[in-house]
This record gives sequence, C-alpha cells and structure tokens, in this order.
Amino acid sequence: MKDFKNKLVYITGGSSGIGLATAKLMAAEGASVVIFGRRQQLLDEAIKQVQICGVYSGQKFAGRSMDVSKRDSVETVLSSVLAEFGVPDVLVNCAGRAYPRYFENINYQQFDDTMKTNFYGIWNTCSILVPYMKTKGGTIVNVASMAGFLGVFGYCDYAASKFAVVGFSETLKSELKKYNISVQVLCPPDTDTQGFAAENVTKPMETRVISASAKLMSSDRVAQELVSGIRKNTFMIIPGFEGKITYFLKRYMPFVIDMFMNAAINKAQKK
Ligand SMILES: NC(=O)c1ccc[n+]([C@@H]2O[C@H](COP(=O)([O-])OP(=O)(O)OC[C@H]3O[C@@H](n4cnc5c(N)ncnc54)[C@H](OP(=O)(O)O)[C@@H]3O)[C@@H](O)[C@H]2O)c1
Repeated sequence: MKDFKNKLVYITGGSSGIGLATAKLMAAEGASVVIFGRRQQLLDEAIKQVQICGVYSGQKFAGRSMDVSKRDSVETVLSSVLAEFGVPDVLVNCAGRAYPRYFENINYQQFDDTMKTNFYGIWNTCSILVPYMKTKGGTIVNVASMAGFLGVFGYCDYAASKFAVVGFSETLKSELKKYNISVQVLCPPDTDTQGFAAENVTKPMETRVISASAKLMSSDRVAQELVSGIRKNTFMIIPGFEGKITYFLKRYMPFVIDMFMNAAINKAQKK
C-alpha cells in the first residue's frame, strides 16, 4: 500500500503514544481513522488531535471504547464499527502494556493480563477482521517490540507476549498472502510515551542500566517509520539505526549481544 488517501484505518491503542502518533499521521495522509482504547475520555481527547491533522472534508474520525483483552468486547465493538464505517484497509494493533519486574515478582495475574492484552488482543482483532479484510485485501501491522526478538532482563512476561506476536504474525503473513493482505510487525525501541513512563516505575536496576545506553525515540518518529514500513512492505519494521543493528547482531552474532547484556547486568548488580 503506497497511498492512504480515502483508506480506512483501525488502530487499537490509538488514544496514546505510538498509536496516537500513527493515527495523526494517517489522518495527515488523507485516511479515515477509527481508534480504540478502554478509556472513552482519553479517546475523545485523542480524536480531537487526530481530526486537526485531517486534510480533506470527506475523512471520518471516531474513537470507540474496546478492551482488546476481552473477546466479548472486541466482538461487540468491532461488529458495530464494521457496520458504521466499513471494512478497514489497514489494521494497526498497537494496544499494549509493560510492567518490567524480576521474574519472581511477576505474579500469575500480571502474566495473564500481559498475555491477554499484548497477544490475545491481536488474536482477537485479527480473527474477527480477517474474514472481512479477505474480500478486498489490505495491511495488518502488529506492534511487537525489540523485546519481540531479544529477551531483555526484567521483561519475562512482556518478551513472551511480544515473541508470540512475532511468531503469530510471520505465520499469518504466509497464510494471508493469497488474499492480498500483508502482515507486518513493528518493533520499536524505547519510545517516549506515557506507557514508557509507567514502565520506569517498576523497572529493575539491571533493566535501567541496559536501557540507559539506548536513545529514547519520539512516538512521531516511530509512526513515520511504521508508515514508511507499510509503503516498503518490510515484514520487520525496526525504527532507527540502533534497533536495526541490534536485530542484525542478535541474528548473526548473538554472542555480542550476550556480552553487552552481561556487562550491563554485572555493572548494575555491583552498585
Ligand atoms: N513506548 C515504548 O518504549 C515501546 C517500546 C516497544 C514497544 N512498545 C509497544 O508499543 C505499543 C504502544 O505503546 P505506547 O508506549 O505508545 O503505550 P501507551 O502510551 O501506554 O498507550 C497504550 C494504548 O493502548 C491502550 N490500551 C492498553 N490496554 C488496552 C486494552 N486492554 N484494550 C484496548 N486498549 C488498550 C491505551 O488506552 P487505555 O489505557 O485507555 O485502554 C492506550 O491507547 C504497545 O504495544 C507497546 O508494548 C512500546
């Protein structure tokens, strides 16, 4: 997909951070945009910002409350949104959460909530929307993370959910090719969002030292890379040079990543 004018874009997690930046950029590209999140007030504030970015009068914008982790909520909300706005050309699954902690401090409830939001959430929207999208083709972008190809200290539940997103997406990509639906994965590095600020509250010292060496990216820059990744049809969209080099090293020289991680962990544990 090269041109978003007159296209319909659904974005889960579109009321904040990377999802909101993507919604604004899609609006500026001429798309109609429906964003989803749980808090209606946040959606209402976000949709005003998205609307301002619109470039022509025919564009439609809406924010609908939906909890991606709850199958019933996704079924009900998507069936009404499909009837109101139609089948999306682009689905961006961006809703997600992260509460970094030591493995022993992650209780079953946290693990369950993380998997249900970050992974089951994507399963839910895809399984409901793909049968409709098959009729006209389109693009699905599932937001993972660099923790979707690299197990990072402190992210046991989060990395498990994001590795699941990558495996699911790679498989779905092969299955949906014949319907002209491309499936892609976005793996952002640390990005300056409210979600990232919340992560910093629970982050173990070792995780802080590992992330200290990486530059914080803006959500606008991540959104630009997402849109450009859709245009290029790259499966793994990895914003920034640092992210790309990390992916390369993890794949072809994993011992370099291990050395770096171990050095950072040792440094933190000596403090
Ligand atoms: N920021 C980073 O450093 C970073 C790095 C790598 C990957 N990511 C990934 O990028 C995505 C966006 O992160 P962000 O930092 O932009 O997050 P954010 O600012 O915290 O925004 C999260 C969005 O998801 C929505 N959301 C959360 N749980 C939901 C649920 N159960 N159902 C529906 N909507 C839900 C939130 O709205 P409500 O709370 O109102 O539902 C909000 O709109 C996530 O998948 C995250 O894992 C982020």
